[in-house]
Amino acid sequence: MTQPTERLLAGPPLGGRAESLHAHHLRLGALPHVPAGQMIAALEAAGVLGRGGAGFPVGRKWRAIFERPDLGTPVIVANGAEGEPESAKDRVLMAHRPHLVIDGVLIAARTLGADRVELYLGREHTAAVGAMRAAVEERPKTERKLLHIVEAPIGYVAGESTAVVHYVNSKDARPMTTPPRMSERGVRNRPTLVQNVESLAQAALIARFGPDWFREAGRGKNRGTGLITIAGPVRHEGVAEIELGTPLAELVEMAGGLTGNPRAVLIGGYFGTWAPIETAWGLALEPESLKAAGLTFGCGLVRIVDDRTCGVDYAARIMDFLAAGSAMQCGPCKYGLADLAGASARLAGMDARATDLHDIERWTALVTGRGACRHPDGAAQQMSSALAVFADDFASHADRRRCLASNVMTRAYR
Ligand SMILES: Cc1cc2nc3c(=O)[nH]c(=O)nc-3n(C[C@H](O)[C@H](O)[C@H](O)COP(=O)(O)O)c2cc1C
Ligand code: SF4
Repeated sequence: MTQPTERLLAGPPLGGRAESLHAHHLRLGALPHVPAGQMIAALEAAGVLGRGGAGFPVGRKWRAIFERPDLGTPVIVANGAEGEPESAKDRVLMAHRPHLVIDGVLIAARTLGADRVELYLGREHTAAVGAMRAAVEERPKTERKLLHIVEAPIGYVAGESTAVVHYVNSKDARPMTTPPRMSERGVRNRPTLVQNVESLAQAALIARFGPDWFREAGRGKNRGTGLITIAGPVRHEGVAEIELGTPLAELVEMAGGLTGNPRAVLIGGYFGTWAPIETAWGLALEPESLKAAGLTFGCGLVRIVDDRTCGVDYAARIMDFLAAGSAMQCGPCKYGLADLAGASARLAGMDARATDLHDIERWTALVTGRGACRHPDGAAQQMSSALAVFADDFASHADRRRCLASNVMTRAYR
């Protein structure tokens, strides 16, 4: 894929081996010493938002911990779980530029005075885990002592920040259902910064080049670059680094152009939002612009579907996956998502009951805000946007008439 705006992915081409520490230093120099107050101010001035999904300002998160030294010595957790099935940006980053991620955790540890870093890595991403392990081994002993690799269990919810902390503490990757806030008591009851690996890599670049440089890239309100995973009918699916604000049409061009007739796009991951292709085509891929259009940047997944794909089927498969991924602790999440998955599967399979469509509409509203974590909210968001964007498909399936997608003829769902 053409990569016109490379910062995180600058260096040797993707597809090869991970960049060594020597090559990383030759290219970028050693991580500079930046005083703590200056580093946090730089993150705030850059305006960099977290890249794990929620888009929380990175500088604000670091400041919350920095300003409470009375709570104890902090712990840094790099979140490289990437349980989102269609997203690949974190694993690609770690597999190719592991030292940038390690620089990110080191600058976070120095800034916040942390004495321990947990590198929480999705165990199924073997190339990424291998590259990160090798990169840790290349570091000097003083740094190695800080860095601890934790192989995260497979599962969507295992990457949720309280589940991350829970797993590091007790090998149980279910979200914690009760406060306190992690910035106060997280890993080993200490103040804990859980930060996505891309966010940390961005911090490592900001430490080197400053916020003005960071903001030179970008075309909208949120500046800088971001990693995107593009999937669907394009010539080269995969991970691209874009200037935030790049229109979808341009991203598709970077990916070699279309190979099908697009009809809709899911932006932001399985917790994201569907949009019709006509609306999305000129849209700037940047958190603020997407928010204004009722969409979310999320984890940066852009999944296009073409006219051979049944929207009901796609939404039902996602719901099935998310229902199976519930940590089964909260009733509305455990039972609500299972019911939504059941009804949408029947619709997809042309086996709908009379009330299924109406029930799906009702239940998406009912589960929202009713879990201890955002899992049911994200699942409901995906489903309710699918109901709007694929309204004709849902209506046709509900009447057991026919599937409107050209390659799906009343096929059984499972
Ligand atoms: C169900 C669920 C799964 C999540 N999975 C991930 C993940 O795999 N990786 C990640 O970085 N953040 C994930 N998140 C977001 C984290 O809870 C958290 O917001 C993030 O790691 C913080 O880093 P950031 O501020 O740099 O984005 C998930 C959230 C939810 C609700
Ligand atoms: S909302 Fe779902 S995933 Fe989140 S804690 Fe409750 S049961 Fe677990």
